[in-house]
Amino acid sequence: MPERPINGRYTSVAVTLHWLVAFGILYNLWNGWWFDSLEAAQPDKIRAAVDFHKSVGITVLGLVALRILWKIGHPGPLPMGTLKPWERMLSAAVHHTLYLLMVIVPLAGWLHDSAWKGAPSHPMLLFGKIPWFRLPLFGGMSDASKDFWHDKLGMVHTLTAYVLIGALMLHIAGALKHQFLDRQPQFRRMWYGK
Ligand code: HEM
Ligand code: HEM
Repeated sequence: MPERPINGRYTSVAVTLHWLVAFGILYNLWNGWWFDSLEAAQPDKIRAAVDFHKSVGITVLGLVALRILWKIGHPGPLPMGTLKPWERMLSAAVHHTLYLLMVIVPLAGWLHDSAWKGAPSHPMLLFGKIPWFRLPLFGGMSDASKDFWHDKLGMVHTLTAYVLIGALMLHIAGALKHQFLDRQPQFRRMWYGK
């Protein structure tokens, strides 16, 4: 197991995965809520926007899986020595919540889309090019049952996206506090360098 210095940094692989996943998630949060205004103003653009949302979301899910595997062998530096016990506990709780939601939100989106009764006639193509699969749980169901699950899983997707935003706000507020109020080298931990 590698050393875990207190004021060290995450590995370049962890940093790259952190920022790719962060941009993917922030993009999809914005893009997801933008569907509503798009539907009203430019209904012809909605299908392409939803397809792009799904492609980004599936990519995020894959990157999160890689990140979790990487974390097992490379846990990263110990928490900063200057953290008070409650800050250490809160940041660990927020990080665990984020890991959980980084899996649940895209997975619920994928399940929601897989339960869509229009799925068989609308094959999924990642970024318009790579054929991708739906989760094979809803194949034998009637349209009414598919509608039921499509609805419920859509609700789970939306509600967990709200919880993700709450956890993210805490995460970003914590990073800003340590960097600017406590004047500790917080940002460099999640950036490249020796
Ligand atoms: C969707 C957006 C984001 C997600 C899902 C996310 C998730 C995470 C997670 C799970 C960790 C824990 C890493 C580990 O111990 O394995 C982490 C660490 C970190 N994140 Fe984020 N993050 C996001 C955005 C941001 C932003 C916008 C900032 C900057 C303001 C930021 C700054 C950091 C820093 C500095 C750390 C290192 C914390 C430490 O000292 O250990 N993150 N992030
Ligand atoms: C990075 C992960 C993801 C985030 C943060 C995210 C976020 C969101 C948000 C905020 C909405 C709008 C909810 C609403 O208006 O009630 C939404 C809608 C949706 N998402 Fe996601 N999503 C992600 C991944 C996925 C994935 C992987 C899929 C499917 C493969 C997916 C499929 C959908 C669909 C079909 C909708 C509804 C679009 C419509 O109104 O018809 N999402 N998502």
